[in-house]
Amino acid sequence: MRKQIAAANWKMNLSISEASILLDQLAATSPNLSEHQEAVFAVPAIYIPLATQKLDGLNHFYVAAQNCHPKANGAYTGEISAPMLASIGVKHIVLGHSERREYFNESDSFLAEKTNAVLSEGSTPIFCCGEPLTIREAGTQNSFVETQLINSLFHLSEEQITKVVIAYEPIWAIGTGKTASSEQAQEIHAYIRSVFATKYSQAIADQISILYGGSVKASNAKQIFSQPDVDGGLVGGASLIATEFVAIINALK
Ligand code: 13P
Repeated sequence: MRKQIAAANWKMNLSISEASILLDQLAATSPNLSEHQEAVFAVPAIYIPLATQKLDGLNHFYVAAQNCHPKANGAYTGEISAPMLASIGVKHIVLGHSERREYFNESDSFLAEKTNAVLSEGSTPIFCCGEPLTIREAGTQNSFVETQLINSLFHLSEEQITKVVIAYEPIWAIGTGKTASSEQAQEIHAYIRSVFATKYSQAIADQISILYGGSVKASNAKQIFSQPDVDGGLVGGASLIATEFVAIINALK
């Protein structure tokens, strides 16, 4: 069975004391995950050691980074590299979130380099894609997302692509309270899988976990995750509330 993943993206939120309380609540109430399930916490980089310590011992729980630089080291002030993250045990890295694409001008080709950097550490890129509202309204979301995938991921080998987790996040659903319907999510997730089946093979495509992101909450997670091509979620706002996120973990297939 494909990995089913509940991934928290805290973005730039919480003080260290708030983070500490949330992690304690999560550790105290979190469920036992099955072999094919994972809970991933993309916390602000400075809280990674705290999160690692607080979530230690929880099976299939992973602390993640929200970003990394494509170079291994060098004069890149303010940046953090994939090998640096691996050296502190962080093996999941969110790449190409729409906020980074929009506010930090991250291009598809830059994200291809970052993906290479993460994979060469043996780590897992959680690669984000998704269309803005104008594209959805024009009905061209499939080709928009396909282009993002082609430009950043199609150079990867079969072995490499199976290590990538995709997060489909329609920009119009992020932080807006407006969720894609489960039918809309299923439709584009199936399309994304077909893009990989065409480029690689159906067997390869069937191994790739595709998460949905955009206003996932405890109240809608089960419905969205029940779709056959939805393998969990990447969750912003609701991941900052322990009871909400634990319920989202519990909604995994
Ligand atoms: P929200 O869950 O707050 O809509 O954010 C989604 C997101 O951007 C996760 O990466």
